[in-house]
Amino acid sequence: MQITILGHGNMGSAIGKNLEVAGNDVTYYTSKDEADTFGDIIILAVPYAALDSLVEKYGQQLAGKVVVDITNPVDFQTWDGLEVPSDSSAAQQLQKKLPDSHVLKAFNTNFAATLQNAVIGTDKTTVLVAGDSQEAKQILQSALSDSPLQVIDAGSLKRARELEATGFLEMTLAARKQISWNGGFAVIR
Ligand SMILES: NC(=O)c1ccc[n+]([C@@H]2O[C@H](COP(=O)([O-])OP(=O)(O)OC[C@H]3O[C@@H](n4cnc5c(N)ncnc54)[C@H](OP(=O)(O)O)[C@@H]3O)[C@@H](O)[C@H]2O)c1
Repeated sequence: MQITILGHGNMGSAIGKNLEVAGNDVTYYTSKDEADTFGDIIILAVPYAALDSLVEKYGQQLAGKVVVDITNPVDFQTWDGLEVPSDSSAAQQLQKKLPDSHVLKAFNTNFAATLQNAVIGTDKTTVLVAGDSQEAKQILQSALSDSPLQVIDAGSLKRARELEATGFLEMTLAARKQISWNGGFAVIR
């Protein structure tokens, strides 16, 4: 599968590594690049604050595509909440701005190191995926099927709110040194 990752930092690299291992063709772009090819899946591995500029710049090219939002929209001024209303999420807001794309929330509950290593403690790293298009979720699942990651369908895009709350909680635990940045929540089937 052809996959485009906007952002080649900690998360873009770690997610891309798993997709490459699984046999996909991955193209990366950073903020300095002009993206000119868009694959079957586009992963937005950028800070939450950069999403609007990507929508403005590439919104038309993203129509009809599977667009994966991995952001944790944490209010870094206070570290005491999210920047999105408590009855919504960054992913639901993104879907409204990209009505012709199939937006998925995924990877935001995984620290980058647990994606790089594909393990959390002694368990497989699990990617929780929320979205309203069953087909889009299957496309992402299929792209990762030969990777070392476990993928679980977390439900509709409304569940992005809970995924973002989970990501935020993990971040506060790590920032308060209650867990390490190699840790987080494992999911046992
Ligand atoms: N790190 C984690 O463990 C973790 C876990 C879960 C979720 N997340 C989420 O993942 C996202 C990325 O985090 P990260 O740790 O990978 O950050 P990072 O290492 O700082 O990488 C961010 C990347 O985004 C690129 N970027 C920024 N603005 C852009 C734009 N307008 N167009 C294209 N690329 C742009 C940067 O490019 P330049 O270098 O050119 O600026 C850089 O490659 C964040 O939303 C974060 O909340 C992170």
